[in-house]
Amino acid sequence: MIVNPRPVMTHHRKTGFKSCHMCAGVFFKCNAKLTCWCNDGYNYELGDMRKDHVGEFITGHVMQHIRNSFQMGYEPFEICQNCIAKTNTLRMLDDGLVIHVEPSNICNLFCEFCSCTFERQYKNPPKRKLLPFELYSKSMEEIRNSNIKVAVIGFIGYGEPLFNPYICQMSQLARNLFSESLIFIDTNANHSPRKARNLADCGVDEVRMGIDGVDQVSYEKYRERGNFDKCIKFAKALCDETNRIGSSTKPIWKYILFNHNDSDDQIDKAMQMADEMGVKILFHLTSTPNKSLRKDEDIISQVGMSRIGSNVDKKHRSEDH
Ligand SMILES: C[S@@+](CC[C@H](N)C(=O)[O-])C[C@H]1O[C@@H](n2cnc3c(N)ncnc32)[C@H](O)[C@@H]1O
Ligand code: SF4
Ligand code: SF4
Repeated sequence: MIVNPRPVMTHHRKTGFKSCHMCAGVFFKCNAKLTCWCNDGYNYELGDMRKDHVGEFITGHVMQHIRNSFQMGYEPFEICQNCIAKTNTLRMLDDGLVIHVEPSNICNLFCEFCSCTFERQYKNPPKRKLLPFELYSKSMEEIRNSNIKVAVIGFIGYGEPLFNPYICQMSQLARNLFSESLIFIDTNANHSPRKARNLADCGVDEVRMGIDGVDQVSYEKYRERGNFDKCIKFAKALCDETNRIGSSTKPIWKYILFNHNDSDDQIDKAMQMADEMGVKILFHLTSTPNKSLRKDEDIISQVGMSRIGSNVDKKHRSEDH
């Protein structure tokens, strides 16, 4: 694990990639660090929300080094070699900043290939933390005051955003400051219906619920310690509440395809359940072990393009935030 090294400002290996997520992105870790957001980089400290003016940090020399390096055809840091956040799409700050916020690194599940699970299995696991609301709001206001165009604000990271008791205030503040941005929350949906209802009216565009299965057996193979019925109750409560109050928040069922949940029957059943609940379902592929081996075109022909999430068929790929 990389522990808070100083970023070295020299160009490293040559690269054919045009940019990486950090060229137009910033990641607020729950421990107040500003880090890269790829799996290897989330301990790679680029800045600190407590010491830095976050607007100036985004336009400042560390982040500019990342953009310049790609523009000159080099990887910015030693750790970039195996990074999955490199992309063939050219995205720079003018295209709009993507802010990823990690409200909490606490989690109730142990999904096998998640960094949050790996971390908790270390001999000395890093402390479980909540991002303080005041630090979050200070940082968001600094970005606002720097007149940086913000395209997306995502509450995600390596943990469960809904364990932060200020999650609704955080998303409402994001909406107040950035009225035009796409705002989303990713959750494992293993929470009470009350928490679901609270999310219906806090300015979020999308609540993406990671429910990778159609019953307890197919679901818990990846989502260890998760409770399938609880997720479905959560999803229903959110759908009912958004309908009741006429909210523009869209609940989305995010279904990652593994080899244990990708049969024709399972996929059909998931689509049927989603239709009955009135929730949009999107199927995603993954590159982690036990991934589904079904072909892109096969999945597309079964579910239709409107139910395809990112990573399925690069030609049709939606922007992966
Ligand atoms: C680390 S999770 C944190 C948010 C929340 N705890 C959740 O599970 O949705 C962030 C994103 O990673 C996705 N994810 C988890 N395991 C994955 C895997 N093996 N492959 C691809 N994406 C994965 C989740 O679906 C979620 O959208
Ligand atoms: S490519 Fe390098 S700079 Fe970009 S996210 Fe990955 S580790 Fe960070
Ligand atoms: S629920 Fe999300 S954060 Fe928790 S272990 Fe699973 S993928 Fe990771």
